[in-house]
Amino acid sequence: ITLAFLPEPLLAWYHENARDLPWRKTEDPYCIWVSEIMLQQTRVAAVLGYYARFLEAFPSVEALASAPEDRLMKLWEGLGYYSRAKNLQKAARIVAEMGAFPDTYEGLLALPGIGDYTASAIASAAFGRREAAVDGNVLRVVTRLTDCHDDILDPRTKRHVREQLQHVMPAESARVFNQATMELGATVCAPNGPPRCGECPVADFCLGRVRGTAETLPVKTPK
Ligand code: ADE
Repeated sequence: ITLAFLPEPLLAWYHENARDLPWRKTEDPYCIWVSEIMLQQTRVAAVLGYYARFLEAFPSVEALASAPEDRLMKLWEGLGYYSRAKNLQKAARIVAEMGAFPDTYEGLLALPGIGDYTASAIASAAFGRREAAVDGNVLRVVTRLTDCHDDILDPRTKRHVREQLQHVMPAESARVFNQATMELGATVCAPNGPPRCGECPVADFCLGRVRGTAETLPVKTPK
């Protein structure tokens, strides 16, 4: 199975249905990076206020690099996973020293707190690179579309999903393609409750829907 059918209807759907989120209106790598770190373990609704206050307090990577730790922690209070904030500042100091954000997947991956999802998300949204970002939402969408029963806790599954998306991600829509796959997984092919296939732009192509397995996917076997 190929995902060649995916980009056209998905992007058309996204342009009509995307939520209006502040980090989708910018190509500034600093702002996108802050949003992705906050979104790693926290829901969109909870992130919005923190994101606005954080960027007001630290409008640039240099401002964050030189921020007093107590002020940084105060702004993060309530978001949890405080190592995220510590790594953010550590990385900000490296970037400030470098003089510019790394603009490739590999360069971004080398920064503290940036794993392969975040590196891909920033490389695409900020720099227009063709790097497929695979988070839990995207894993759910793709395993359902392809009726894939491989365990998503196995790193090979994520690698395979990334490769499949990488093949079909359009160069001219690299910025929005990742946002669109995530959006479909967050709102239609959602984690809680049955998938809303009636609202899905690619329901006709979805093997999980046709075979009636969608609701049982993805497979996640606790170790
Ligand atoms: N979750 C992780 N990254 C996101 C993004 N860019 N937009 C919405 N939800 C997300």
